[in-house]
Amino acid sequence: MEVLWKASFGSAAKKPTVGRNILQAMINNKIDLPLTVGISGASGNIYGLRLLQFLLENNYKINLVVSESALKVALHENNLLLSSNPQTQKEQVLSYLSLSLSNDDLLTVWPHDDIAASISSGSYKTSGMVIIPASMGTVASIACGISRNLITRAADVCLKEKRKLILVPREMPVSSIHLENMLKLSNLGVIIAPACPGFYHNPVQTFDLIDFVVGKVLDLLGFEHNIFKRWQSQSKQLTSKTSTNL
Ligand SMILES: Cc1cc2nc3c(=O)[nH]c(=O)nc-3n(C[C@H](O)[C@H](O)[C@H](O)COP(=O)(O)O)c2cc1C
Repeated sequence: MEVLWKASFGSAAKKPTVGRNILQAMINNKIDLPLTVGISGASGNIYGLRLLQFLLENNYKINLVVSESALKVALHENNLLLSSNPQTQKEQVLSYLSLSLSNDDLLTVWPHDDIAASISSGSYKTSGMVIIPASMGTVASIACGISRNLITRAADVCLKEKRKLILVPREMPVSSIHLENMLKLSNLGVIIAPACPGFYHNPVQTFDLIDFVVGKVLDLLGFEHNIFKRWQSQSKQLTSKTSTNL
């Protein structure tokens, strides 16, 4: 996964771009405020890393929290050693993503147990939070209002402050408990966006599947992007081909 990630996402050909509508999107969704990104211990922390890469490349301000379990998953899945020291972890994440920030303030990394972090208070304004991937344990904690680490506390703050909260669960199969927790959160306005890539964009490589999921999250956040090919109905494709031929 590590080789694929660096080879694919580092290439100019795949480099995402922000479209013209970004300013309007920022106005509509208040995404000029910092966004909180939580990476919990479900499989697929590469989704979270890819989202981070896109947002930081586009100069978006992020508060990042990686759960204790996610540190283990990162090592296992991506051969990415992450320190629990926030400054070291920041350097490790940036190095993994081959990113150097134009402004060091763009990324703030918080320890998973720092419940005194700014994002643990509703008085600190954010544009919302994405938990990607979201483990079933984290989903359950949020659904029950149990805020034992900074990810679940920051999510709890989003709920109470009525801010956008997007969860990207990764589990298969799911139990009735998982489903009930997700339904409960959905009924509270939380966006449940499972890590289920489509195949209608004709993926060729693993990163096409990753970009599909991350692209859908960017859509939900209101970002213009071109990291996946959008569906065009067959009849429309036929019409455009016909008109080109005329
Ligand atoms: C390699 C690995 C993969 C895992 N994948 C998942 C998963 O896909 N979904 C899930 O809910 N838990 C998964 N787990 C289990 C969670 O890490 C575990 O439930 C943990 O307590 C979640 O803690 P957190 O939500 O605070 O990050 C995985 C664990 C490991 C080590």
